[in-house]
Amino acid sequence: MSIYEISRRPRRLRTTSAMRELVAETRVSASDLIYPMFVADGLDGKREITSMPGQYQHTLDSLKAGAHDALEAGVRCIDLFGVPIDSDKDATGSVAWAEDGVLNRGIRALREEFGDDLIVMADTCLDEFTDHGHCGVLGTDAQGAEVVLNDATLEGYTRMAVAQARAGAHVVSPSGMMDGQVAAIRRALDAEGFTGVSIMAYSAKYASAFFGPFREAVGSSLSGDRRTYQQDPANLRESLLEAQLDIDEGADFVMVKPAMAYLDVVAKIAEFSPVPVAAYQVSGEYAMIQAAGRNGWVDLEATMMESLTSIKRAGAQQILTYFAVDAARRLR
Ligand code: PBG
Repeated sequence: MSIYEISRRPRRLRTTSAMRELVAETRVSASDLIYPMFVADGLDGKREITSMPGQYQHTLDSLKAGAHDALEAGVRCIDLFGVPIDSDKDATGSVAWAEDGVLNRGIRALREEFGDDLIVMADTCLDEFTDHGHCGVLGTDAQGAEVVLNDATLEGYTRMAVAQARAGAHVVSPSGMMDGQVAAIRRALDAEGFTGVSIMAYSAKYASAFFGPFREAVGSSLSGDRRTYQQDPANLRESLLEAQLDIDEGADFVMVKPAMAYLDVVAKIAEFSPVPVAAYQVSGEYAMIQAAGRNGWVDLEATMMESLTSIKRAGAQQILTYFAVDAARRLR
């Protein structure tokens, strides 16, 4: 008996753990997770990334070992980034499409090791490979200003994507935010017969301070910023245009990046996208949770799982996250 007339008591569905699980609207599973990994040239052994504890620049051997751990935990997709030695970088990033370039060797090693058991996705962008660190080639525009050239950069992306497909990538993922990049890559892949290789488009990618630790992870040569090609954090509307364009250009997945500070963008795109919508929980998001967790300021595991659940609840079907293996183990 209650003296209050409360007929609607939402707490009833929160009474026990079994009840909470019964009514949970969102579930993260290992098969939703994509694990970004770094393969580096010129290393004797794997090297931990200071600002991303638990994440490494890998040799080919430690890459394979790490991918085995991921697969064992239930993660079935790796997103691979390459870190060349400095002397291999040049103005156009040409080592990106060299058959023996470090990223292409990494892709090949994973395909040889895992066949189709593991989805091998490759980052398709030039910033790790150019000596100036930009995602494209530099030049002057029609008014004489120095810019990252859009259309000239597409040529590099298409060569890179074809080289990645040739090395065995199941998925290429253009992340450079050049206009028309998805259409250019689709056409180039198809022309070479790689009609079965899919494209995960970084559709809404913001010029974000949350990428900070990634710069160490890939030994970035960038000085300055990427604000003339990545999006302004103030804007939502242009993300809808970017996603629509990528869908029209043939993207098999669209993606939003970073994730947690852009869940409104994820939710809006998920409302209309006819293709799967992914989100990338980036290096800075991982670093912040790790740092606070390691200081005992937040519960690391609980914060990790809550962050992933929130990203999925917002509408992301796939989550790229450095927590992929830890989270998958936790879900076991
Ligand atoms: C660029 C690229 C970046 C990230 C993925 N691809 C960095 C940037 O745009 O500056 C960031 C990933 C992360 O922070 O985890 N190719």
